[in-house]
Amino acid sequence: MSNITIEDSNGRCTTATDGERSELPPSLFRPHASDGSAIWRFVSDAGTLERNSAYAYMLLGAHFGETSVIARRNGRVVGFVWAYLVPDRPNTVFVWQIGVAGSCRGHGLGSTMLQEILSRPACREVAFMEATVTPSNHASMALFRGVARNRNTTLDLSSGFDCSAFPDPGHEAEMLVRIGPFSPIAQAGGNSKE
Ligand SMILES: CC(C)(COP(=O)(O)OP(=O)(O)OC[C@H]1O[C@@H](n2cnc3c(N)ncnc32)[C@H](O)[C@@H]1OP(=O)(O)O)[C@@H](O)C(=O)NCCC(=O)NCCS
Repeated sequence: MSNITIEDSNGRCTTATDGERSELPPSLFRPHASDGSAIWRFVSDAGTLERNSAYAYMLLGAHFGETSVIARRNGRVVGFVWAYLVPDRPNTVFVWQIGVAGSCRGHGLGSTMLQEILSRPACREVAFMEATVTPSNHASMALFRGVARNRNTTLDLSSGFDCSAFPDPGHEAEMLVRIGPFSPIAQAGGNSKE
């Protein structure tokens, strides 16, 4: 059973278990710097994601909110995506990290969050999506294959970062996933709330 972070209206955080899952669909928001701590706690509680510093998450919220998503249900963080436009290739959105609460996985939230990013005005010129994936992460591979299918385009795999590039022994290699080209789907304002 996994834990997920609950935030009350005063920003206090506790955790909830799978059994407390509500059927209300999550709402999607653009993250801000002030969401960095909640995402740091979510990642800490999930245990399955590589945890970056709270400061890194605050910076991502401050600088990449237009291309990132935070999903909340009843005020709880239940998912997030950090993504950005590759600086010298603005037609490519790179998904740095994505996570969905254990209790919400397999219900389309990961796919919905990625589609939401592609629908944002900031992605109006985006024709490719990239990410790196460890070969053993079947859920992540299935997620990106689904995006390629949904956009009616191809997914190419190539070497990303070799295991020898990482300082910690035993780190898996990261394969580069590249999806596209596809037609931009950006709408007037995307579907997420401020
Ligand atoms: C990867 C992850 C974000 C997927 O989110 P999700 O909300 O469960 O994904 P979805 O429900 O949108 O499913 C997308 C596709 O993946 C498939 N899928 C989901 N979980 C799967 C699993 N464990 N094994 C195989 N396929 C899986 C779904 O069936 C769906 O396939 P379809 O498009 O053919 O129907 C989620 O599993 C997660 O948070 N994992 C831990 C963190 C992680 O590994 N992040 C990626 C590295 S940063």
